[in-house]
Amino acid sequence: MASPELHILVLAGGESTRVKTGTPKALLDLCGQPLLGHILDVAGNLTAQSHTLVLGPTHQAPIEAWMQKAGYEAWKVVIQPEAKGTGDAVRCALASLPATGKLLILCGDTPLLETETLAFLAEQVGGALLTCLVDNPTGYGRILREEESGALLKIVEEDDADEEIRKVCEINAGVYFLDLEALHGAIAHLDTQNAQGELYLTDAAVAILSDSDGTVVCLEDGEDEIQGVNDLVDFAEVVASKRQNILEQHLLAGVIVVDPVTTFIETGVTIGAGTTIHPFSVLRAGVKVGRGCSVGPFSHLRPGTELADGAEVGNFVETKNAKLGLGAKAKHLSYLGDAIIGQKANIGCGTITANYDGKNKHQTIIGDRAFIGSGTVLVAPVKVGIGSITGAGAIVPKGKDVADGQTVVGVPARPHPKQNG
Ligand code: UD1
Ligand code: CA
Repeated sequence: MASPELHILVLAGGESTRVKTGTPKALLDLCGQPLLGHILDVAGNLTAQSHTLVLGPTHQAPIEAWMQKAGYEAWKVVIQPEAKGTGDAVRCALASLPATGKLLILCGDTPLLETETLAFLAEQVGGALLTCLVDNPTGYGRILREEESGALLKIVEEDDADEEIRKVCEINAGVYFLDLEALHGAIAHLDTQNAQGELYLTDAAVAILSDSDGTVVCLEDGEDEIQGVNDLVDFAEVVASKRQNILEQHLLAGVIVVDPVTTFIETGVTIGAGTTIHPFSVLRAGVKVGRGCSVGPFSHLRPGTELADGAEVGNFVETKNAKLGLGAKAKHLSYLGDAIIGQKANIGCGTITANYDGKNKHQTIIGDRAFIGSGTVLVAPVKVGIGSITGAGAIVPKGKDVADGQTVVGVPARPHPKQNG
């Protein structure tokens, strides 16, 4: 897929000033995963000799903490002491990159780029730059070409552009595939003679690609794919695009999403064909739903939820780290957290697994075919046996397991008087 001498560099050393949240934009949650995670994953799909990420000192600690937790140790982090521009970010990284080979450079704030696009760029012999024809070029660097030959002349940033140049609708997507030897030379020659007083990577890229007869790869229908996140308006648009992509994938795979407008499905969710997702439902990252299930309306399936085939979760039911067996049902007003629920179990309206004692989370296990009465509270850790029954309003205290086939009632729950034991 990619050249054996390929190295990959992602730039995320900026201060995130335009998002105004005071937190790094790299960690904004985009459909269940930090924005930066999307681009690291797509870059990670290419085979490369090394993966380097530029961070600034302001946001280094939280980003590195997340990377460690999320398993991105393969990325080498380089610190750019001061955000003096994209050219300066590359300059900082070059110190730890080889003198020769090829470098694919991406911005950490363009999360919707696709692997195929990057792979195509990395196949271009003389190097490449990704551009795109867009309806609204505001905020992007404009591509200036020689009128007759179409050759790349210059990339002009919004702040440096006059009114004529601002009308240009071919923009720089911020993805570059460059020869490392040439890059070492060109970066050393950059200056700060521009409106922002920064070192622009774009100037170096144009110089290198002009010399090497590089390719300008122009996407004609890629406005969503190349979209960069500079402020929260951009971010809202990117979230909308990503949501739409995810929904389309599930619809094309046979999932009946009754109302895509009010359905939020995050990344990494699997749903079997023939399952129906009713309106106003949220399926968080990594949730697994089998075939022929029913979810919603108004269900919130949080991480760690797994529904086996035919399971049903209905109105105002929240699940977290909960596994529902084949055909199990929780149709109304429940919280099921840290729970394992057996096949065909029926979780009555208003059932709560009280999983948190103020310090720790505990597990509830509900056996196959158990019938949990309306308004039951199961105080974890607790186990309710196969085919057992709890009466309406029962509170089953922690550790007071209900045996297989047993019926318990009341507060605290005790064996039903008509049962022996
Ligand atoms: C940049 C490009 C612009 C392009 C756009 C695509 C330059 C000069 N401009 O503009 O032509 O259309 O991306 O989305 O390159 N960064 C650093 N260190 C810095 C500054 C930035 O690592 O000192 C990182 C940022 O964290 C970000 C990326 O580089 O991930 C791009 O920087 P940003 O300031 O967002 O550039 P744009 O104005 O979007
Ligand atoms: Ca940007």
